[in-house]
Amino acid sequence: MKYYITTPIFYPNSSPHIGTAYTTVAADALARYHRLLGDEVYFLTGTDENAQKIVRTAEANHIDPRTYVDGVVERFIELWKALDISNDDFIRTTEVRHQKVVQEIFTKLYEQGDIYKSEYSGWYCTPCETFWLENKLIEGKCPNADCGRDVELLKEESYFFRLSKYQDALLKHIGEHPEFIQPVSRRNEMLRFIEGGLEDLCVSRTTFQWGIKVPFDPLHVVYVWLDALINYISALGYPDGENYKRYWPADVHIMGKDIVRFHAVIWPIILMALDIPLPKVIYGHGWYLTKDGGKISKSRGNVQDSFELIERYGSDAIRYFLLRELQVGTDGTYSEDNVVERLNSDLANDFGNFVSRSLAMVVKYRDGIVPRPGQDGSQERELKALSHEVKKAVEKRLEVFDPASALEEIWRFVARCNKYVDETSPWVLAKQEEQRERLDTVLYTFVECIRVMTVLTAPFMPGLPPRICALLGVDEGIIRWEEADQWGILEHGIKVQKGEQLFPRIDISQYTTAEETKTVDQDQNQGQKETIEPVPALEFEPIKEEISIEDFSKLDLRVAKILSAEKVEKTDKLMKLEVEVAGVVRTVVSGIAKHYAPEDLVNQYVVLVANLKPTKLRGITSQGMILAASQGDVLEVLTVNKDLPGGARVK
Ligand code: MSP
Repeated sequence: MKYYITTPIFYPNSSPHIGTAYTTVAADALARYHRLLGDEVYFLTGTDENAQKIVRTAEANHIDPRTYVDGVVERFIELWKALDISNDDFIRTTEVRHQKVVQEIFTKLYEQGDIYKSEYSGWYCTPCETFWLENKLIEGKCPNADCGRDVELLKEESYFFRLSKYQDALLKHIGEHPEFIQPVSRRNEMLRFIEGGLEDLCVSRTTFQWGIKVPFDPLHVVYVWLDALINYISALGYPDGENYKRYWPADVHIMGKDIVRFHAVIWPIILMALDIPLPKVIYGHGWYLTKDGGKISKSRGNVQDSFELIERYGSDAIRYFLLRELQVGTDGTYSEDNVVERLNSDLANDFGNFVSRSLAMVVKYRDGIVPRPGQDGSQERELKALSHEVKKAVEKRLEVFDPASALEEIWRFVARCNKYVDETSPWVLAKQEEQRERLDTVLYTFVECIRVMTVLTAPFMPGLPPRICALLGVDEGIIRWEEADQWGILEHGIKVQKGEQLFPRIDISQYTTAEETKTVDQDQNQGQKETIEPVPALEFEPIKEEISIEDFSKLDLRVAKILSAEKVEKTDKLMKLEVEVAGVVRTVVSGIAKHYAPEDLVNQYVVLVANLKPTKLRGITSQGMILAASQGDVLEVLTVNKDLPGGARVK
């Protein structure tokens, strides 16, 4: 089966940011998935360079548009490389191969009467590169909900494309192909828009010269959207190229919701007018917004450099975050602390920890040699049944372009694997000689679980298979989708290594307060999960003498809300906190000032030892103590994230 998938081509008027990367990462995951299925995949991305906004930005930077776009396009190419994007081609609309096709199509449409010359009098939004009629403007501004910026009045001679002529044919196509525009919310939006009546579209400009010239009337340059949409076939070598014959029609064009309208109206009509089959699916995803619901944008200074983020957390973690967080049909929230949370919980605690714990046990109990398994028990049967269920569910979710739910399904399996470790308790089996065969089965199953997890996540995190195969001492040829839920694929007798943590935990408090992110070796966080080996490098305080439950119940621990925080003058360790507990405000002096900035503490819900005798520190009476975990130089105040009021008991 062939599978042709595209991203929109990006405006190189500014460097890409993490929000823009979503479309490309999602398309890449789908492309990789289809390759694993054995499909012959063609994956296209590129840049949309002939826009008026490029001219404006280049002018503002005092350089010519060509030099300007060359620089920015390089950034896109580098970013896709850093994110392990596996595109087969990268089209630039300033390339001759594209310009030639656009000119041929423009001429053909003109000759057959679908393009005609007239005069345009109306408004133009340069940020959206869209024409608007006066009656569509909202308070004189661009009516696009994501824009709302100033529009400019245009009055120029132009060529027009007869969209109106194809309105009924388009509605018929959408009606007959419910899968054509997805998800269904966008389909409904588009139906309403088209039913409202299509106006002929202005498809040339004369007030600037940057762009593709109309071949028979070179004072005009082709309107950027007509030019840009054609990339999907020009890159394949339309009309005679082998790739065009092999791959067109596209199986899916993936894009953000803001540009579905161009793809669901102008593009199919161009294709209908050329008598070319339409793409099978146009999929419009939501947007990544900032925490306060605003747009992510470099100019607003609310987004970190994508390269820095990738360097800090790794391409797989960024890809995982982007794909996991954006639910179908809705917008998602991007913030660096959300990335860290996902990384710590899903990747470090769940995925990475399973891999390192289970491999460590194979090393410890069988010198790293994967043993021959004995008979399956009910737990193994349950794991296997779940793997079939999850693989099917992932396939279903990816058929409807929903990577977030696909990952959620895979994590059901990851969670089950972690539970399997606890249920089977190999450290107990290892102490009983008569359980030798049972332990062999468990250890073998661990390694197979790692294989299953690696195959299922391979489309999303392509950096993992080479790393995990190296730990297992096997070739990457074991990454076969059809075998994901088959068991007994890995041979016993292979030698595995424990290796390094796949996803070292990130210490949130360090990253929010210090300029530099600090990765904490996972070994320092071993308290969170069952551990099997003592960690020689760290010196823990000895565990104190036993106390009775009565002793413990003397402690009154409460949730407390931090109302204000300030450093205590002339000390570098002490922080003075005002906390609210059970309706009363208390002052607490805490030795955490080296680890937190005051603003990071305000509004946090922490745990307070509420019945500790008050004590004076630097002349301030401290009425209690807040709990924090620490090891070496790392310290983290314990916080409560559920909706619990200051005053709730902790027991
Ligand atoms: N050049 C046109 C597309 C032409 S396709 C024939 C364009 N370019 S763009 O650079 O403005 O946007 C490219 C893609 O990035 C769009 O799919 C857009 O929706 C997506 N995104 C831009 N910011 C985004 C987020 N913050 N979140 C998710 N996607 C975002 O439009």
